Amino acid sequence: MKKLEKVIIPVAGLGTRMLPATKAIPKEMLPILNKPIIQYIVEEAIFAGFKEVILVTHSSKYSIENHFDKSFELEATLEKRVKRATLKEIRNISKLSISIQSIRQGEAKGLGHAILCAKTLIGKEPFAIVLPDMLISKKNGNAGDSLKEMRLCFEKHEISSVLLGKAKKADISKYGIAQIKNDSQLPGLGLIEKIIEKPSINKAPSNLYAAGRYVFTNDFFKYLSKVKPDKFNEIQLTDAIDNYIKDGKKVNAFSLKGDLFDCGDNAEYILANLEYAMKHPVIKNKIKNYLKTK
Ligand code: G1P
Repeated sequence: MKKLEKVIIPVAGLGTRMLPATKAIPKEMLPILNKPIIQYIVEEAIFAGFKEVILVTHSSKYSIENHFDKSFELEATLEKRVKRATLKEIRNISKLSISIQSIRQGEAKGLGHAILCAKTLIGKEPFAIVLPDMLISKKNGNAGDSLKEMRLCFEKHEISSVLLGKAKKADISKYGIAQIKNDSQLPGLGLIEKIIEKPSINKAPSNLYAAGRYVFTNDFFKYLSKVKPDKFNEIQLTDAIDNYIKDGKKVNAFSLKGDLFDCGDNAEYILANLEYAMKHPVIKNKIKNYLKTK
């Protein structure tokens, strides 16, 4: 059985959709309730059974690495003030059962290029990718259920996979859109036949969009390194997936379990906060009462 233990989280993007909030704060550090988005994402990877996170980062993003480091000063202060519950929570962040490494993406040349930057840290192993903007919330079960299903499928069948959600018509041109065909041999929705980055509605082969969770065999890097930059000088992950499939490699599609919030978008970021606030026993009632007055 081939183990799948490494997950790449690309965090080098400048978060321009969330400016000016993201002028000095990485978008991944914006809070959903009282935790930064990146913490939910790392917790999802831990739940799914990953052992190593590789952050592909940028010089302006050091606070992400700091967040997962031990903070002696803060811990000493909390200890002195006898804030035991908070102290425990803060200590747990630096004691997560996953190792975190980082590598820089020197130039902003797109998502595919960011993933290529992690190649030396992946070595010869298979790997997953989780896009930190895309926050999953699940009512029953864990937000990491989909990623776990993808990891287990890889370990059993050694096959790549992409998580797909159902896009509203108005959102189709924001995402990578896939065409699938049934395959009764594998768990999930079927195999991806083709995938197109941000198509117009009339060119979209379906409403199934790539929801920011991917698993790849190591030879995917070969396809990624051959992708030509697009008209914006960006190397698209989607183009590499499409070439990999055209070359006869299988990519299984999994269906997103739960609700997904694109936290790089102002409205969805607020909705994600509401979603998590409504899970909080005390805050929930305040929100409900507030909404009644609107
Ligand atoms: C990227 C991918 C796209 C995917 C999306 C999910 O786009 O290129 O295929 O559907 O993430 O968030 P971006 O959001 O970086 O434009």
